[in-house]
Amino acid sequence: MSISVVILAAGFGTRMKSETSKVLQPLCGEKMIDFVVENAIKLSDDVKVVLYHQKDEIIKYLDEKYNNFKFDYITQDMQNHKGTGGALYGISYRYDDVIILNGDMPLVSIDSLLKLKEYKSDLVVSAFLCHKPNSYGKVVTNGDDVIKIVESKDANEEEKKIALSNAGVYKVKKSLLDEFIPNLGNNNAQNEYYLTDIVKMATDKKCDVKTYISDEDEFLGVNSKLDLELAESKLQEKIKNYWLEQGVIMHNKQSIYISKQTKFIGECEIYENSSFYGKNIIEKSVILAGSVIEDSVILNSQLGPHARVRPKCDIKSSRIGNFVECKNAKLDGVKAGHLSYLGDCVIESGVNIGCGVVICNYDGKSKHQTNIGKNAFIGSNTNLIAPITIPEDTLIAAGSTLGAKQTKDLKQKGLFYQRADFKIIDNFKDF
Ligand code: UD1
Ligand code: MG
Repeated sequence: MSISVVILAAGFGTRMKSETSKVLQPLCGEKMIDFVVENAIKLSDDVKVVLYHQKDEIIKYLDEKYNNFKFDYITQDMQNHKGTGGALYGISYRYDDVIILNGDMPLVSIDSLLKLKEYKSDLVVSAFLCHKPNSYGKVVTNGDDVIKIVESKDANEEEKKIALSNAGVYKVKKSLLDEFIPNLGNNNAQNEYYLTDIVKMATDKKCDVKTYISDEDEFLGVNSKLDLELAESKLQEKIKNYWLEQGVIMHNKQSIYISKQTKFIGECEIYENSSFYGKNIIEKSVILAGSVIEDSVILNSQLGPHARVRPKCDIKSSRIGNFVECKNAKLDGVKAGHLSYLGDCVIESGVNIGCGVVICNYDGKSKHQTNIGKNAFIGSNTNLIAPITIPEDTLIAAGSTLGAKQTKDLKQKGLFYQRADFKIIDNFKDF
């Protein structure tokens, strides 16, 4: 742990064109900064986060989510020290070595950072080869020696052609930062204090400067919505390939969306167009086409096609069919084949939920609970008005509407039957 980490996240993220901070943009069910912070915490107990734009929102988010970790938040002086180098003014580090990460680089793997950490040089610059025109800083070399980095906005025509691009992650000796950061200038196209200028300062002083050749895919800087989409599709590919390797079957992988915090256990099968949002555990289950599952636990069950499982469901050994919506529902050994809403309920084993059953859980002010005992049969088109308890082994006839008042005398093995009167009027159409 004897290395400090600093995450640069103070920028305005103008190119993102969003009212939400760049680092709080959504990515595979997390925020972009989560991917960076999770690596930082694995590397160090001295993690500094440099903030300015929407600082309060970012601090609130990180403090709530990582409440066991103490970040050192630093507010950048944007009036006097703008830029990635300006971000590091006045910071003191606990350890002799520092890794500098960008808040907008969510694809960097911990393995790459662990390799970078092993370098013994005074300054290590991560870089990759990019042959297309791009806005990355250009790493100017002479043979194997690094000379300097030129930002693309400051580069001349020759420099613009350089393929070796600055990936933006660095390992550097604290002593170098202490010496160079106060001496940065801002005489450049953006009038900013560039962190990249420390490279020339280090080579001028004959320090040992190395490049760490990395993969552009991993070191993608996310500056716009286009980059964000690219980062998400790369992460999706990574997440899905991981689960395929763990034995999950996927039909039409491209159409499936899996959040970072979804876990599969045992052999699961997922059909096309299914989405998994939030934090799920799916064990030994089949998810048929077009189903949406969020923040829930599914075990030994078959869902869909087109089932919607909203947060806080715990579904075991059940079959949930098409257009059935569940929310905060605990189901164990239940069949709900078609077109139902099951919200705020506990339904015990052997229960059959007919087509079109609706649990009316909301009275306009509060949500109420429904309990359905073992082996009850809820006929089609039944409205259960919560709070309500349906005893075990009862039968509710199709088309009934019932609440606690109607069921107070219903006992085990009983039938609840309610039919509205009907009328037949002859020749009605001629009136
Ligand atoms: C930066 C590098 C560039 C590199 C690229 C890799 C500089 C000058 N340029 O450019 O060489 O190829 O990353 O992705 O370093 N930030 C602050 N304070 C600021 C400005 C930025 O904390 O005043 C933070 C941003 O929030 C962001 C990170 O620093 O997380 C990088 O800033 P950004 O504006 O994205 O730099 P790039 O133009 O991408
Ligand atoms: Mg960037």
